[in-house]
Amino acid sequence: MLRDTLGRPIRDLRISVTDRCNFRCTYCMPYEVYDWVERGEILSFEEIARLTRIFAALGAEKARLTGGEPLLRRGLHKLVRMLIDIQGIKDVSLTTNGALLAEQMPDLAAAGLRRINVSLDTLNAAKFRQITQKGDLQPVLEGLRAAREADLDSIKINTVIIRGFNDDEIPDLAAFARDNGFHLRLIEYMDVGNASGWTLEKLVSKKEMLEWVRSRFPLREIGRADGRAPAVDYEYLDGRGKIGIIGSVTEPFCSTCDRARLTPDGKLVTCLFSNEGVDLKSPLRGGSPDEQISAAIHTAWTARKDRYSDERWASLKNGAGYDPAARRKIEMIRLGG
Ligand code: GTP
Ligand code: 5AD
Ligand code: SF4
Ligand code: SF4
Repeated sequence: MLRDTLGRPIRDLRISVTDRCNFRCTYCMPYEVYDWVERGEILSFEEIARLTRIFAALGAEKARLTGGEPLLRRGLHKLVRMLIDIQGIKDVSLTTNGALLAEQMPDLAAAGLRRINVSLDTLNAAKFRQITQKGDLQPVLEGLRAAREADLDSIKINTVIIRGFNDDEIPDLAAFARDNGFHLRLIEYMDVGNASGWTLEKLVSKKEMLEWVRSRFPLREIGRADGRAPAVDYEYLDGRGKIGIIGSVTEPFCSTCDRARLTPDGKLVTCLFSNEGVDLKSPLRGGSPDEQISAAIHTAWTARKDRYSDERWASLKNGAGYDPAARRKIEMIRLGG
């Protein structure tokens, strides 16, 4: 089985299908204009499916569609179907901002999508506009409702917590998720890309988040899904569901990181904080057989040493401070989050 230098396999393929987004969240993609990937460079659904087949043969079991905003890709449900049909892929899921979800949910569900993660940082419409710069809260709530009506196996809400912005909303967000049957995940603010605005002062740690939740709802830890997921899950003592916390900064999980990322223009990126990727599009379009593309992935993965979040935490823990600008990174919108 394929392993990197730290013994980690590829199990999860995160596919960014577009670098475009209809929001401009201040912690992710604050600027209006980026150096966009040219349309002709963006992989077709057939090309994504072919690469996913090759990754599946190397061990990938899960495929997650992300972006940018994946629902901006017309007919995304067709890609969902194509991925579900790939031998070895047991789980296909979608991470979305939810703005276009209500209209697309029926097609996505009919295509076989059973799991969805929707980003939602606040229940206050004015704050929602402030953090997304372009988004409206109402369509996202309608998207969540449509997902509930589609009777999926899992609907998660992803909430990035930023000190002084939405930390005091944690108990209300937890109540909202519990009341509606959604699984809330509170996410530590990370220094993704080159303009996330991250500072240590704005970081609310996993431990603090837990205290906020506990202040209204008693809970107990149940651990990471499969022992290796980014989120540590907790269940409410009254039996009304679960909540997850993703402590990427203060409790990094690099040692079990089995996630490969595919950019919209067909690069394999081996870490969320990488500055480079391996070009798979050229061999794909240049007529190379699957074996050759597989060999390129094999070479990149066996050389993989990434443990960015472990290193960041080592430096923060030592009180050495941390300058997120010290390393140039690929923007998150290109990376498959
Ligand atoms: P599930 O399969 O539902 O557990 O999804 P997920 O949590 O792996 O994916 P999702 O796209 O919902 O991501 C949730 C948060 O975890 C986002 O903020 C991601 O950027 C972050 N995340 C996911 N994978 C990694 C990773 O490998 N490293 C780091 N540092 N963060 C990650
Ligand atoms: N820190 C933590 N999470 C982030 N996301 C985007 N930017 C950041 C950041 N700076 C999250 C989004 C989305 C997921 C794919 O990544 O909220 O849910
Ligand atoms: Fe778009 Fe998601 Fe980034 Fe917000 S977090 S700008 S919705 S890709
Ligand atoms: Fe994986 Fe890189 Fe995240 Fe560590 S920082 S968990 S190596 S993607």
